[in-house]
Amino acid sequence: MFGNIAKRLSGKTVLITGASAGIGKATAQAFTEAANGDIKLVLAARRLEKLNALQAELTSQYPKLKVHPVILDVSKIETIEPFLKALPTEFATIDVLVNNAGKALGLDPIGTIDSQDVDTMFQTNVLGLIQLTQLVVTQMKKRNRGDIIQLGSVAGRNPYPGGGIYCATKAALRSFTHVLREELINTKIRVIEIQPGNVESDEFSLTRFKGDKNRAAKVYEGTEPLTQEDIAELIVFAASRRENTVIAESLIFSTDQASAYHIYRA
Ligand SMILES: NC(=O)c1ccc[n+]([C@@H]2O[C@H](COP(=O)([O-])OP(=O)(O)OC[C@H]3O[C@@H](n4cnc5c(N)ncnc54)[C@H](OP(=O)(O)O)[C@@H]3O)[C@@H](O)[C@H]2O)c1
Repeated sequence: MFGNIAKRLSGKTVLITGASAGIGKATAQAFTEAANGDIKLVLAARRLEKLNALQAELTSQYPKLKVHPVILDVSKIETIEPFLKALPTEFATIDVLVNNAGKALGLDPIGTIDSQDVDTMFQTNVLGLIQLTQLVVTQMKKRNRGDIIQLGSVAGRNPYPGGGIYCATKAALRSFTHVLREELINTKIRVIEIQPGNVESDEFSLTRFKGDKNRAAKVYEGTEPLTQEDIAELIVFAASRRENTVIAESLIFSTDQASAYHIYRA
């Protein structure tokens, strides 16, 4: 039964945003392994050197694998269309879009949130994701096929103090994604939202606390959070179901309650 996964993914082109670290990087690794290297990956993020290193790591294990590492800052909305237009022909038809790039900045109470942080979170988590989705779904509609996988969060369902903006961005993503799924309900385009609880990924907490390693580590102290590989497995699982099967939403948390409900001890 599970042998079908490689067959279902065979030859597909997967575009992953935020592929240089964390869940995005683990997703690139998981797709490669699940497809046994018979897949094409567009790996996008701001740090090209990290994408190049990931390409080298993956192709050394799977020489058949095709990888296109490319700079994309999803918060720069005007760069998204040129980015798609510049993809080499071999990678230009996106079968699976993984809208993963995203971040939380700070844990400040409303009234004290830095306005630059508000802009960055909305531009990255919401406006960039909307723009990329709009452009890619237009291609997918012409072919009546494709998967759009959005990295939502438990924060979009259970907002918490200190998460005023981050939670709002993930709630916006959730609403947008819900509408997209309803609009495409009679098509073969699958719209999937993955909603993780606390994941101890490469940089999420470090980014939230702007490089403060002690504060970043405290979030996970005494808990057993999810790993980026846990989430990557679910993304690949959802993308490799039989084509009539849609895993519409998945809320994932560890059995540890503090992780599940994002109780930050910062
Ligand atoms: N970790 C959690 O607890 C958790 C829980 C629920 C949901 N999520 C969601 O999962 C997604 C991935 O998070 P993660 O935990 O893997 O975080 P991470 O370890 O910090 O990785 C974030 C990735 O996004 C990229 N990125 C950041 N800003 C970008 C931009 N403007 N344009 C393009 N790429 C950008 C980063 O690479 P560059 O710096 O090279 O651009 C990096 O590759 C996010 O949407 C996050 O909200 C995370």
